[in-house]
Amino acid sequence: MNNYITHLHAQNTGVFEQLDISFNKRFNFIVGPNGCGKTSILKCIALALAPSNSKGFRYKENSAVWFDAVYDEQKYRIGLGEGWVSNAEEYRQAVHQSWKKPPQQDGIISYTVNKLEADNINITPLILGAYRRIEYQKMEGMHREPSVGEQRKKYHSSGVGNIEGGTLPNVKQWMINRYFEIEKDWAAVYKRNWEWIIENLNNLGPENCKLEFKNIKRDLEPMFTLQGIDCYLEETSAGFQAILSLVFAIVEWIEGTNEEENTYIPNATGTVIIDELDVHLHPEWQLTIRKSLATIFPNIQFIITTHSPHLIASAEAGELIVLPKLSRKICVQPTEQCFAGWKTDEILEEIMGVTNLANKEYSVLLNHAMDYVEQRNVDALKEAISQLEKIAHPSNTIIHILKIKLAQLELGDEND
Ligand SMILES: Nc1ncnc2c1ncn2[C@@H]1O[C@H](COP(=O)(O)OP(=O)(O)OP(=O)(O)O)[C@@H](O)[C@H]1O
Ligand SMILES: [Mg+2]
Repeated sequence: MNNYITHLHAQNTGVFEQLDISFNKRFNFIVGPNGCGKTSILKCIALALAPSNSKGFRYKENSAVWFDAVYDEQKYRIGLGEGWVSNAEEYRQAVHQSWKKPPQQDGIISYTVNKLEADNINITPLILGAYRRIEYQKMEGMHREPSVGEQRKKYHSSGVGNIEGGTLPNVKQWMINRYFEIEKDWAAVYKRNWEWIIENLNNLGPENCKLEFKNIKRDLEPMFTLQGIDCYLEETSAGFQAILSLVFAIVEWIEGTNEEENTYIPNATGTVIIDELDVHLHPEWQLTIRKSLATIFPNIQFIITTHSPHLIASAEAGELIVLPKLSRKICVQPTEQCFAGWKTDEILEEIMGVTNLANKEYSVLLNHAMDYVEQRNVDALKEAISQLEKIAHPSNTIIHILKIKLAQLELGDEND
């Protein structure tokens, strides 16, 4: 079974006059300068699946937005063709007017999302925004889980809202349901998934911080150990909470939207879309998160935006989609280039478009110090060096050179 998105097209939708973007079937990291349209790209996929949530965009009348996907060897085109929206240009007044199919192309079947749901085809990306803390929730017991069809509809319609504000995956509810179900005869797949996740908690963070699941007692509070110390879910660090809520959101989605035979996590396919994966993650975690996701979900496609130079450095060839500065016409595909050997500053400047990395105070002090060398002003140079030492790295080579200059000047003064 395969199930992934190959291409996204949008025209006269939101910020884009025309957008064409290709994806590979594994990791896609969308990166680029602030405000270049990263989140807007994800929102276009969400909109193609939920036109009733159209109010957050402004359009021209001939807006169209659709994506191509491969599902079980067949190609599908899903979304909205020209004529789907009215009142398009008025702020927050756009209305989904009709179910116009996206344009036909040979070998590709065009669908609107309502038809896709009716025909029971499982193209149901999981779309997650940047909000992912776990807040304390008191649990009352096990909950009934909705049917596969209901869940697919829910995931289709919640993407735009998730990007804009975010609903939280209910990690605790999932754990409680599973913990008390897995010994039942009918829960064999759930049991295998539970064991896969519990075993892989070890692979979540960097080498030196290991989280292990301990138990759930009658108070219905999942208990973990972190470096040997007991800890409740809500007590784990922001980094663990961010990753745990992501991982459990993905598991919940795999189990909720697939027929039972396709729910075993290591075999599961489909697309997970995440805005700002690096949120809450310590730089060390930013370096390891790609590998964690790759290990736990070996057949899932990821489309991810990020601001993190460390995540960018962890991407492999063919995984980065580098956007130019904001442009109304964008046509991009993953680059074969890899940035593993680039320095953080180099990635920030060239990929993320950060224009002024130099610390202003440092640059001003340095310029003054250079002037004092020229002017042979020993006292002022001494003072400038002492100020620089307070803010620069202890092994800063420029300060070292300034000190040599200072010594030469002092020697010169003595010889005069
Ligand atoms: N409906 C709209 N019509 C025109 N422009 C819009 C619309 N909605 C948003 N924009 C503009 O689109 C641009 C891209 O915004 P977006 O949030 O996608 O950027 P981003 O790359 O995710 O930025 P960041 O790095 O801050 O997350 C912004 O300049 C924004 O002002
Ligand atoms: Mg953004």
